[in-house]
Amino acid sequence: DWTPASFIEEKIAEVRARVGNEHVILGLSGGVDSSVAAVLLHRALGGQLTCIFVDNGLLRKGEAAQVITTFRDHFHIRLKAIDASQLFLTRLRDVVDPEQKRKIIGATFIEVFEQATEELTRELGRRPRFLAQGTLYPDVIESVSFRGPSATIKTHHNVGGLPEKLQFEIIEPFRELFKDEVRAIGRLLQVPEVILHRHPFPGPGLAVRVIGPVTRERLDLLREADAIFIEELQRHGLYDQVWQAFAVLLPVQTVGVMGDERTYEYVCALRAVTSVDGMTADWARLPHDFLAHVSNRIVNEVRGINRAVYDISSKPPATIEWE
Ligand code: XMP
Repeated sequence: DWTPASFIEEKIAEVRARVGNEHVILGLSGGVDSSVAAVLLHRALGGQLTCIFVDNGLLRKGEAAQVITTFRDHFHIRLKAIDASQLFLTRLRDVVDPEQKRKIIGATFIEVFEQATEELTRELGRRPRFLAQGTLYPDVIESVSFRGPSATIKTHHNVGGLPEKLQFEIIEPFRELFKDEVRAIGRLLQVPEVILHRHPFPGPGLAVRVIGPVTRERLDLLREADAIFIEELQRHGLYDQVWQAFAVLLPVQTVGVMGDERTYEYVCALRAVTSVDGMTADWARLPHDFLAHVSNRIVNEVRGINRAVYDISSKPPATIEWE
């Protein structure tokens, strides 16, 4: 009988036998799959595992710090955390086309990951032989994966999207599993609930949620608004009832009033959807009072945003993300 406990025992034995005394690297994104894979492989391999975390400067508020604290300080996993935000932002300067953003982010990620691997090779005195990934069954069977069909509309770059020229042997412990099974395994391995229940987050991160040019200032505005929305969803027990929820910063400024002063600031859109697999989605009927509260907090607390709107479009014909 399949149980999370028996799976963990079997995988640990299998991975140990396969890896021997070689070294394994794993690209950690902070999402459910790579996080649970990291903890499982660490159980099996200890110091023979190094996780590589690339901070592309496009993550949500506090996310990079949380990944580092959780995996390095709490789980004591060897973690190479690379702050590449300056490089990503420089390359994204003046880029407004969504697919162009994805291309640049995907290529830059691979470059930074390769550099980190070379650095690690020098530190270890030999090249890591294995690359571990948190690939799930739906990712393997592309046709039932939400990434598959929509990839023709948006090319999806993820941490898994490393080029073959990197030449590693691949370890994919979750190849036959679904998300819920990985969550159950993660729970048993004491991966924090916030990680296990986190909404899906696109590889290109906030770059596809800052519509128009991506700058540090605009990313910071979006981060603040998004953090308020997520915090309130959690506080009201609504977070787990939606497939995804996030804020989007529009490249539009509108007139507002603050005290006696006229303001001319950005608009932020709030997006929350229900969905089974991301292929189709409906806008979430969040309570009006809740939306009013979130809007109030955002326009009062985030200097630079003076208007919030709620996205009431379904997929299709809209998509979940705005870009
Ligand atoms: P759309 O916007 O196409 O999104 O309705 C469907 C799901 O895919 C996520 N998404 C991405 N994930 N890289 C990713 O890894 C991407 O470029 C990307 N674009 C969209 C989106 O968040 C939703 O869960």
